Amino acid sequence: MSNSYRKLSQLKTAVALRDRLTQLGLDLPVDDEILTAKGGSPMAAPLTVVGVAIGNRWCIHPMEGWDANEDGSPSAHTLRRWRNFGLSGAKWIWGGEAAAVQPDGRANPNQTLAVPANRAGLASLLEELLAAHREHVGTTDDLLVGLQLTHSGRFCRPNDKSKLEPRIAYHHPLLDAKFGIDPDDASVVWSDDDLERLIDNYVIAAGLAHDVGFRFVDIKSCHGYLLHEFLSARPRPGRFGGDYQGRTQLLKTIIGRVRDTLPDLMIVCRLSVFDIVPFETNREVGEPMRFQDQLPYQWGFGTDVQDPLSTDLAEPLQLIRDLCQLGVAAVNVSCGSPYYNPHIQRPAIFPPSDGYLPPEDPLVGVARQISAARQCKQAAGDVPLVGSGYSYLQEYLPHVAQAVVRAGWIDSVGLGRMVLAYPRLPADTLETGQMVRNRICRTLSDCTTGPRFGLISGCFPLDPYYKQLSETQQLKDLKHDLR
Ligand SMILES: Cc1cc2nc3c(=O)[nH]c(=O)nc-3n(C[C@H](O)[C@H](O)[C@H](O)COP(=O)(O)O)c2cc1C
Ligand code: SF4
Repeated sequence: MSNSYRKLSQLKTAVALRDRLTQLGLDLPVDDEILTAKGGSPMAAPLTVVGVAIGNRWCIHPMEGWDANEDGSPSAHTLRRWRNFGLSGAKWIWGGEAAAVQPDGRANPNQTLAVPANRAGLASLLEELLAAHREHVGTTDDLLVGLQLTHSGRFCRPNDKSKLEPRIAYHHPLLDAKFGIDPDDASVVWSDDDLERLIDNYVIAAGLAHDVGFRFVDIKSCHGYLLHEFLSARPRPGRFGGDYQGRTQLLKTIIGRVRDTLPDLMIVCRLSVFDIVPFETNREVGEPMRFQDQLPYQWGFGTDVQDPLSTDLAEPLQLIRDLCQLGVAAVNVSCGSPYYNPHIQRPAIFPPSDGYLPPEDPLVGVARQISAARQCKQAAGDVPLVGSGYSYLQEYLPHVAQAVVRAGWIDSVGLGRMVLAYPRLPADTLETGQMVRNRICRTLSDCTTGPRFGLISGCFPLDPYYKQLSETQQLKDLKHDLR
């Protein structure tokens, strides 16, 4: 049961965490104390990404807030989030948030748009972040900021927060059932012709990002969204499905077209390097959807086809090698999807409203991601990799981050939920070796549950800015009703 797992906050020392990891059979290094930059923290070491020197090893993951205006331009909430990313002290901002390359590709009607009509909006996000960095941290010469580009595919809700308008790569028997898609409806499946227009829109969006001053674009291929779904499109006929070459062709074509059109723009890729079967939404301990009559399991990327609760990294490692060959400057290693197996992507002790109680100690999920990223590092050679899924480590996040960077398991550690709760973690730890205890993310999942109820996202429990918004009470009431 979820709450039978020992909470991280109950482990009073790094030694206690190490003991717990040993009990669980997990191989994860933990330093005894947080090192400052002056004290030689590995997190303070510079990192070079294709000739660009980045000031430290902290990265901020992209995180959308379901809070842009309906024309895709930033609201005050959006700008504030980017400002917080800028003042965090991290020197690598991986994309800010997922920006849709065409309006029908939005995951909600309030998603940021990377379309020409929103040029000024994109520029203001970047400017806000840079200004905060200059004011609170210092030079922006060693700061690398890009924009994440996306199409939400199966999870599009462009017009109504409660209405899916899916555009899928192929019919997936379990996900179709989970999200109410008619398995015989051919109209929701992309035609190869429509994909040509999508590729054009990625190139237009990348050009826009470049024009307004972003240093790179991330061609997002993770979390169940469109380009991730194509990586498992085995049943899809034609040039964008079938075997490994076909399934990876759409991603590679987009990267190639952006690279050829914009040779000065860096291209990076956030990749779900493994997946497992979808889980049922319920109030109990998570259970996978019934998959036993679907073996060998054809519907995953980085999934063991005979045992789809386990991973198989052979294809993802090949894809990383291929992307490096194509000129991708860095890879951000993630996994799974927040919509159908959140416990692997965002290990948490308290589930989001569309989740389930954790079926494993969340430390297992953290270690799984770190171990997968370590294997990816070997495939990537000199191309830098960013790791994900660290927020569950709470007060021990810096202890593990500096240990894995020192050991060469990963080049940079990305922060997701932790930075929503505690934006200054990188600066505080590098300057003082301390964390502000009451700002530490406790994986309460309200930043995911809010949007699931059609609200904006944010750290409602810990961020004073959100605490005073009416949405906080709304969220409490909705969670109460759910119980
Ligand atoms: C509110 C919220 C919004 C997110 N939005 C995005 C996004 O736009 N793009 C993306 O690649 N990942 C997104 N993620 C996933 C995070 O970047 C990250 O991978 C995940 O939270 C696990 O890292 P963590 O343990 O540090 O939170 C989002 C996560 C949260 C909680
Ligand atoms: S709502 Fe705050 S404490 Fe909860 S998971 Fe999100 S960032 Fe962490």
